[in-house]
Amino acid sequence: MRTKLIVGNWKMNTTAKEAVALAESFVHNLQTRDDVDVAVCPPFTALWPVRQALSTTRVALGAQDCFWEDNGAFTGEVSVPMLVDLHVSYCIVGHSERRGRFGDPARAAKFKAHCHETDEAVNQKVMALLKYAVTPIVCVGETAEEREQGRTEEVIEEQMKGCFKGLDPVEFFGIAVAYEPVWAIGTGKACGPEEAQRVCQYIRKVIVENGDQESADATRILYGGSVDENNARELFHQPDIDGGLVGGASLKGETFARIAMKI
Ligand code: PGA
Repeated sequence: MRTKLIVGNWKMNTTAKEAVALAESFVHNLQTRDDVDVAVCPPFTALWPVRQALSTTRVALGAQDCFWEDNGAFTGEVSVPMLVDLHVSYCIVGHSERRGRFGDPARAAKFKAHCHETDEAVNQKVMALLKYAVTPIVCVGETAEEREQGRTEEVIEEQMKGCFKGLDPVEFFGIAVAYEPVWAIGTGKACGPEEAQRVCQYIRKVIVENGDQESADATRILYGGSVDENNARELFHQPDIDGGLVGGASLKGETFARIAMKI
């Protein structure tokens, strides 16, 4: 049995002070269960104060990105040992916003030159995270255009092959995959539960092919993209969906707690 996992992705929101208030509000409204894992991913600048605010709770800490070298001349980067030092146990990698893939075409054009994370880079990050026993949450997903062209499975399989290159089957036990259709992120148009289940089942099949059945059965596959209080329960209870990666709706403590309790 896979333990369900719910993760809040706060993206580039909250000052350190606001992040602590958000974490406190979330915890205050949350009734944690031993059979569910919960994590929040504040910006780097708020990791430590949020860690302190959560120190007596079961809520884990996640980062939104990392670099794969341990240290050195890499201005602006944050390494995995630095995250481990702050008790970070999850790290999102390959998010579509970091890949320059946005639902809104105008936004995609505007930030294209700045956001260009590749599958090769994600692969290096996955390896570095596994080395330090931090769980990578690897995001994959198609744009609206790719979906219209009937290329959803092809795009996801290519992303997975690139991101998981060189992984030993046993290493899949240490990762989570997030299916995040680009067109559903921040748009209020979540993927329907049946279609999300179909794609997540496909993702599990790709893990069987790149790892083995046992590792695929153990890998947690999350759904992300406009999860809210109304659609959470149905999405989270699909057989191949093991939880969620929640953006906008995780920025209100009470709302995110209610979503987490629907798992
Ligand atoms: P959203 O974002 O819930 O605001 O759509 C999800 C994500 O990008 O992880």
